[in-house]
Amino acid sequence: MDKRCCIILAAGDGKRMNSANPKVLMTVLFEPMLGWVLDSVRNAGIKDENVGVITGSSAIQVAEYLESKGQYRTFLQEERKGTGHAVMQAEKMLREFSDDGGDVLVLCGDAPFMDAGTINAAYELHKSRDSDVTVITANVDPAGNYGRVKRDKNTNLLSAIVEMKDCTPDELKITEVNSGAYWFKSERLIWALPQLRDNNKSGEFYLTDTVELLVKSASTYMANDSIIVLGANDRRQLRKLNDMMTEMINNRHYVAGVDIIGHNVIIGKDVKIARDTLLMPNTIIRGQTEIGSGCVIGPNTQISDCKIGDNVTLNSVQAFDAVIHDNVKAGPFVHIRPGTTLHKNVKIGDFVEIKNSEIGEGTALAHLTYIGDSDVGKNVNFGCGTVTANYDGLEKHRTIIGDNAFIGCNTNLIAPVEVGDNATTAAGSTIAKNVPAGALAIERGQLNVKEDWYKNKLRLNKDKAD
Ligand code: UD1
Ligand code: CA
Repeated sequence: MDKRCCIILAAGDGKRMNSANPKVLMTVLFEPMLGWVLDSVRNAGIKDENVGVITGSSAIQVAEYLESKGQYRTFLQEERKGTGHAVMQAEKMLREFSDDGGDVLVLCGDAPFMDAGTINAAYELHKSRDSDVTVITANVDPAGNYGRVKRDKNTNLLSAIVEMKDCTPDELKITEVNSGAYWFKSERLIWALPQLRDNNKSGEFYLTDTVELLVKSASTYMANDSIIVLGANDRRQLRKLNDMMTEMINNRHYVAGVDIIGHNVIIGKDVKIARDTLLMPNTIIRGQTEIGSGCVIGPNTQISDCKIGDNVTLNSVQAFDAVIHDNVKAGPFVHIRPGTTLHKNVKIGDFVEIKNSEIGEGTALAHLTYIGDSDVGKNVNFGCGTVTANYDGLEKHRTIIGDNAFIGCNTNLIAPVEVGDNATTAAGSTIAKNVPAGALAIERGQLNVKEDWYKNKLRLNKDKAD
């Protein structure tokens, strides 16, 4: 049995965010803060089913989000009586992990920078010292509202955590702070929790008071980077977290051989980019997007949940849930919508929209074209202004176009319809019937030419003036 479980405190409402959403669902780089914490816990090797989230304010919303992330447990804290009281709600899980020296990690749901490396390094120290509690601390100067780590004057060992509101002037000067993350021996935490009292300035049951109860076997693990303590109470602080996270993630990509020039390149946490790809300004890449090497992405581009090959150029492109193979060039002003696959060497020019379609290798859609619900072969040429009429008001229908077909300018393709290999549609045609392979389809009214029209017009005008 895995002897590590985790409790994440997420019952707070975060009134200062002024949001309809609970604080832990406020996002940093498009991912709820709680999501960052859950991913760190997962990366630390703790199984989802051994993670219990304490919910309170907006419990239903938080539970819905958790369901989308994994198989987590939740414990409802009906009344918000402090961090110690919150942990008590998960007593059932603590008991499951109290035999054979099981340990519990306690984290705050609103501290998105806590990482798996810190969690595991603290766990190793916790085990090697056989401690009852190991508090993850950080150096923060000035220490602000954080709880202060108090040490014994003689031994320098951890003696207590004092909340800012309860500090003496001397204690306020301490710069080692409590991150709000701890490893406990589950059994010892179960022993300590019922002894907590709410006789402090906030009238709450502080989890931090367990340190004094377990002081004989209490350690600290100081994090390498104080960033792990950061959380956000209002939108301005959330903005700051977003900026810091953007910088941190972009730095990771520089190290991996990605170039980013200019400003406003925002990359989501799970995005993967191969080396020698260049990202240009005003580009947002998010979701489960993967980008190959040698690509030029941006400027002014948004990509979400796309798989992109090597040497792809996307300039002013919006692409969602699509697959884009090697050497595709698209832009400017292109919308690639869900369910689209662009095969190798596809060329897409300005003002083109493609939805739920397969576009074969080497096909060109150079200008002002809408292709929806279509299967297009290889090396097809689309003239300017081609439109698939894929929707009859009730249902969507498919358009099928064979290899090497030539679709003339301003062709309307009324789906369901098929254009065979090597077929041509004449400019301006509305194609409502299948076109066989190799054929030319023309659908146009008779051209009517009136000779001397201009001369006649001049004469008429002159007569009027006389
Ligand atoms: C807490 C610590 C403080 C530490 C800081 C780090 C205590 C008493 N203090 O202070 O030492 O420096 O975190 O950020 O623990 N929560 C619940 N239920 C409750 C109360 C809180 O779920 O009844 C949750 C909150 O939603 C939040 C977390 O616990 O995610 C921390 O609570 P918060 O009130 O923000 O504690 P701090 O005052 O910041
Ligand atoms: Ca806090």
